[in-house]
Amino acid sequence: MRLISSIVVAFLLLGCNNRAKHIEVALQNGIEALSSGLLNNAVRFDGTDSFPRTFENGEVVCVNAYDWTSGFFAGDLWLAYELTGNDSLAYFARHYTEELHDIKDFTGHHDLGFMIYCSYGHQWKNFHEDDVKSVIVDAATSLCTRFNPTIGQIRSWDFGEWNYPVIVDNMMNLEMLFAATKMSGDSCFFDIAVKHADKCLENHFREDASSYHVVSYNDDGSIESKGTFQGFSDESSWARGIAWTLYGFTMCFRETGFERYLKQAERIAYYIMTTVNTVDKIPYWDYNDTAIPDSPRDASAAAITASALIELSTMTQKGKASKAYLSYAEDILLSLSSPEYMADPKENGGFLLKHSVSHKPLNSEIDVPLVYADYYYLEAAQRYFSLFENRRVH
Ligand code: GLY
Repeated sequence: MRLISSIVVAFLLLGCNNRAKHIEVALQNGIEALSSGLLNNAVRFDGTDSFPRTFENGEVVCVNAYDWTSGFFAGDLWLAYELTGNDSLAYFARHYTEELHDIKDFTGHHDLGFMIYCSYGHQWKNFHEDDVKSVIVDAATSLCTRFNPTIGQIRSWDFGEWNYPVIVDNMMNLEMLFAATKMSGDSCFFDIAVKHADKCLENHFREDASSYHVVSYNDDGSIESKGTFQGFSDESSWARGIAWTLYGFTMCFRETGFERYLKQAERIAYYIMTTVNTVDKIPYWDYNDTAIPDSPRDASAAAITASALIELSTMTQKGKASKAYLSYAEDILLSLSSPEYMADPKENGGFLLKHSVSHKPLNSEIDVPLVYADYYYLEAAQRYFSLFENRRVH
């Protein structure tokens, strides 16, 4: 009996190692291909003050520094550098990061965390330069000008008819605030991040841990409305918004140790894993689009989810859940690394992943590559490899 159990365990271990090895090879291929696409675009757009965002109708579409995605091109370069050690990637990563310098004083919307922390954040992690630290603390100070203590949230946007709109995506900007407290010693950034996360926990979620994209507040802090801007309908689950909440609460637990954030991240993970019903685990752009299955997938939501689940798998104390999170993330990474989702960057404007959706209700960037889908794919790869640093599969 004992012999049979040992043989079964040995086979299971072999199976796991083969799967991990297979994923590792697939990720390495993706990283290599994307690195060359990134370098081509880095040379091509040098000196233009613009940042590649997507590829449509045979053209690379770039944005200026004030677009919410402006930091991801530098972020892709940094991640590719961290994964390969290629100094040319580091050279251009620094270059495109420093082109964002003036954004630190921008207060026109809430996305400073994406713009500055996905670019300068990597420069800081790699080189620990004091002037980089100042940029991040200044950007955090600018972001905090959008915090209203009566409402307890950072305002997302200044356009539209809402009185005080806050979108779930805003959870992602908090990572920079936690970093700013560590860098400056000033707890005000940490306190605002925690207040924002707590209010989001209170008001953005439904019973099943799905979430409203936009919650708007009256000036006295009461709720004006709950609904969507980028999703299919007010009561639907917009796939990327759900992914942002998973990533955001996982990150908040890492930064605070507060169990309520871990609990919420696990609830969201359960919701995703039991609701997304595609065989390849890449969600439709909105889980509730009535046109499904004739509806586009969103590879960006899948990449964000994979990265978050890998981190969450290292945090939960529940062994079975940890394995389930990792296994789900692995399934996503295998799908994204297959020819269905992974392009040759030479034929995809220098981007890696196909099939993302930016803003379906505005008919904007549907079924295209997006710079942030590649960012979270690279980050997921980095997190995946770090799991195996001490027991690397060969
Ligand atoms: N607001 C960021 C997004 O489109 O996900």
